Amino acid sequence: MKLTHTVMMLAGLMAAGSSQATSLYAGQSKAAAVCSQCHGIRNPSADAPFPPLAGRDPEYLKKAIQQYRDKTRKSDIMNAIAGSLTDAEINDIAHYYGSVKP
Ligand code: HEC
Repeated sequence: MKLTHTVMMLAGLMAAGSSQATSLYAGQSKAAAVCSQCHGIRNPSADAPFPPLAGRDPEYLKKAIQQYRDKTRKSDIMNAIAGSLTDAEINDIAHYYGSVKP
C-alpha cells in the first residue's frame, strides 16, 4: 500500500516536471520578465504600437510567436525576442496570456 502510494507520487511529480506539460507559472514569470516591458496587461491597446496579448486565443499567440521565431513573420523587435524561445516556453507564455483577463 505504502509503496504504491510513493510510486504514484513520483509519477505525478515527473509528469509535472515534463517539458510537455503547460506551466502557467513558468509562462507568467517569463512574461513578467520579458514581454511585459512592451506588452502591458492592464492597459494594453490604448498605447499601441504594442498589441495586447491578454485574453487572446493561445493558439493564435503560439503561432504568431513561432512565426516571429522562424522569421516567417517580420518584426525586428519580435524576431529578436522570439529567436531564443523554445516550443515549451512559447506554449507556456501563450497559455498564460490566454488565461489572463484583459
Ligand atoms: C521591446 C518591446 C517588445 C517586447 C519586450 C516584446 N514584444 Fe511582442 N511585439 C512588439 C511589437 C512592436 C509588436 C508588433 C510587431 C508587428 O508589427 O508584427 C509585437 C507583437 C507581438 C505579437 C503579435 C500580436 C498580434 O496581434 O498578432 C505577439 C504574439 C507578441 N508580440 C508576443 C510577445 C511575447 C510573448 C513577448 C515576451 C517573450 C514579447 N512579445 C515581448 C514588441 C515587444
